[in-house]
Amino acid sequence: MRVVVTGGELVTEQGLVPADLLLADGRIEAWLDRGAAGAAVADERVDAAGLLVFPGFIDPHVHSRDPGHTHKETFHHSTLGALCGGTTTVLEMPNAVPAVTDVATFEDRRAAHAARAWTDFGLWGMALGPANLDQVALLHASGAVAVKFFWGYALDKQTKGLVYNFAAAPPDSLLLPPENGAVLELFGEVARYGGLLAAHCEDRHVLARSAELLGHPITTYDDLLRARPAVAEATSIAVGAQFSLATGCRFHVVHMASAAGAAVVRAARAAGAAVTAETCPQYLTLTDADAARLGPAIKVYPPVRSQADQDALWAGIADGTIGSVGSDHAPHLLEEKLRGFEDAPAGGLGVETLAPLMVDAMVRGRISPARLAEVLSTGTARLYGLWPRKGSLRPGSDADLTLVDPRGSARISNERMHALNPVTTWDGWELRGRVVASLLGGEPAMRDGEPVGERRGRFVAARHGAPVG
Ligand code: NCD
Ligand code: ZN
Repeated sequence: MRVVVTGGELVTEQGLVPADLLLADGRIEAWLDRGAAGAAVADERVDAAGLLVFPGFIDPHVHSRDPGHTHKETFHHSTLGALCGGTTTVLEMPNAVPAVTDVATFEDRRAAHAARAWTDFGLWGMALGPANLDQVALLHASGAVAVKFFWGYALDKQTKGLVYNFAAAPPDSLLLPPENGAVLELFGEVARYGGLLAAHCEDRHVLARSAELLGHPITTYDDLLRARPAVAEATSIAVGAQFSLATGCRFHVVHMASAAGAAVVRAARAAGAAVTAETCPQYLTLTDADAARLGPAIKVYPPVRSQADQDALWAGIADGTIGSVGSDHAPHLLEEKLRGFEDAPAGGLGVETLAPLMVDAMVRGRISPARLAEVLSTGTARLYGLWPRKGSLRPGSDADLTLVDPRGSARISNERMHALNPVTTWDGWELRGRVVASLLGGEPAMRDGEPVGERRGRFVAARHGAPVG
C-alpha cells in the first residue's frame, strides 16, 4: 500500500517544512517536493492542504481498567477514544487487575490488548519494590516502556489495585509503598539494566499527617488541597532526584501538578540528574476555581491546584523542564465520582481530549507547533524507548500521522465521546483548532472524530539505550 500526503506542512524540531510525504508498507518512505507527489505512483492520496502534519501523537498515560474494572472502561473504548481524538499510540498503565507486576501477566496483557487495540500500544510494568524486584529487569527485556512505582498510594494486598483513600481502609488489607531504603534499591536495580523508572510522586507520610491535621473529613475542594499539599509532591520528587543522582537511574515524574514540583525537577536537571517530567491537560487547563462548577468530578491525584501552579507548568513546558504531556485517562463511574470529595475515587477521562486541548493551546499561542510535536510525540517516544520508530517523520519511521487544522474549531461534548462512560470534565468546551484526521501504519485511520477502516492497532516493544555506569 502506497499513500501520498500532499499540501501539508510537516511539523519538525526545526519548525514547519512544506513537503509532501510518500508512505509505503506502513513506513514513511520519502519526503517529496511540493508538487512532485503528483507524479508519484500511489494507491491513495490524502489532501493535507492547509493542515499541519504532526508525527502521530502518543498518550503515555492511559489506565484502561481492563481487565478487572471493565465496568469503568475497556481497552477497546480507550483506544477507540484515543484514535478519534487524534492519538495513534497509547502506553497502557499497569494498574489493571491483575496488575502487571511480572512477565507472565505482561505477556497475557499484550495478547489480550492486541486483539482489541484501535491504536498502536505499548505496556507499562509495575514496580512494587522488594515484592517484585526480581521482575523489573525481565519486564524491561519483554519490551515494557517503563516501570511505574505508585509512591504515595497504598495497594490492595489481594488485587494490587489502587486504594484511593487509605486512611479509611482496614490497615491489614493494604500493601504500603516500601520505605526509602528499599526504594533506593529499586532505583539501583533499574539503573543496572538501563531502564526507566516513573513514579506517582506524593509522599505518603506528608499525605497521612496532612489529612490528620485537617481534623475532619474532606467536604470541600479546599479541604482536599489541604489534605494533599504540593509539598507532598515536591518531597517525593526531591527524594527521587537524589536517588537518581546516586544511582544514575533515569527517573520520570508522571502527572506533575505543582509549581513546587516543577521547581524541584528544574533544579535536579540543572544539577545533572536524569530526571524528566510529564504533566496533563487537567493541570494545564483547570484550576481550583473550577471545583465549584465541577464538584468531585475534578478530583484527581495529585489534585488540580491554583492558577500560579498552572502558569508554572506552562513555563515548565516552555523551558524543557516538562518534556511529555499525557492524559492520565483514569475513568470511573459517574455515581462513584458523585460520592463527594472524600470518597470519590481519583481520576477522570482524558485520552480523547488530550490532543484537542493541546491543539487549542497551540492556536492560542501557549505552545508552538514544534514544541507540541515534541511533548505529544517525539519527546515522549524518545523517553519511552520508542524513537525513531514512533515520534518521527523521518524516512523509515512508522507512518503514523496526526493532521491538524489550525484555522478550524472543535467542541468537546459527552455525546461524541467514545469512552464506555462518556462523561468528561471538558463537556461543552469550545476549542480553537481542529484535529482533522490521522493515519496509522501508513493508512487513514480516523477522520472527523470517527474511525476509518478496520481496527488494526499493534503492540510496540520499547528499546531503551545501554545501561548506565
Ligand atoms: C489514577 C487511577 O485511577 O488509576 N488516578 C488518578 O487520579 N490519577 C492513578 C494515578 O495515576 O495516580
Ligand atoms: Zn498516579
